[in-house]
Amino acid sequence: MFFRTSKNVKNIFNNVSYKYDFLNDLLSLGLHNLWKRELVSLANPRAGENWGDLCCGTGDISFIINKKVLPNGRVIGIDNAESILDIAKKKSENVKNNSIIWHQEDIFNIKKEDYRFDGICMSYGLRNLNNVYKGLTKVYEILKEDGKAAFLDFNHAKEKSLTDKFQKLYLRNIVVPISSIFKLSKEYSYIEKSIEDFPCGEELIKISNKIGFKKIQFKTLFFGQMCILLIQK
Ligand SMILES: C[S@@+](CC[C@H](N)C(=O)[O-])C[C@H]1O[C@@H](n2cnc3c(N)ncnc32)[C@H](O)[C@@H]1O
Repeated sequence: MFFRTSKNVKNIFNNVSYKYDFLNDLLSLGLHNLWKRELVSLANPRAGENWGDLCCGTGDISFIINKKVLPNGRVIGIDNAESILDIAKKKSENVKNNSIIWHQEDIFNIKKEDYRFDGICMSYGLRNLNNVYKGLTKVYEILKEDGKAAFLDFNHAKEKSLTDKFQKLYLRNIVVPISSIFKLSKEYSYIEKSIEDFPCGEELIKISNKIGFKKIQFKTLFFGQMCILLIQK
């Protein structure tokens, strides 16, 4: 039985870190790059702004935002798993005009006095938090007034819908067997359970509303497999 504590999730991402980018490219046939670009394009960071990439992993979103906020803006990539963050740091050595700062920190331990973001992106992070409500509340606390946040993740589709069936088929017959070649099947099997526990679109909208966000939008991508939540403080 797997309990989604911050420590257990951190162990998963430390274990997968060395193959994380490779498997993302392979298992999505590179499509995750398009979805990430779509996320940042909808979030619309502007030159001079101060953005956070929470649960930044190997930093894909930070690198995209970095180009948009230059020359005077800044990106802070935050993740609690040291091995995956080390890869982000290594990758950023080759980035020109780099405004990115990396912080190893648990999202739930962030102090609201330490950050004030114009905007926040989180890609494939929200689903991994053991409490989505608390995660979104934290995002609310560290955003400036009118600040925006954008989330990309697997969509929790209606049970037994075609989308749900396809998602399970893909995870069980493609993702887990391929990851098992690298002895990572236990880590990648966790995705299906995490989607099951992740709120569906309507619930995400309700939670965001309850926390106090306004201008809430939810859209699905790739035949309902992925989703984007856009919210404003
Ligand atoms: C699926 S990866 C996503 C990485 C990257 N954003 C991407 O889209 O490729 C999820 C990331 O969330 C991080 N994470 C999960 N829970 C966290 C927490 N409580 N605090 C900080 N980072 C967390 C993990 O370490 C992992 O790097």
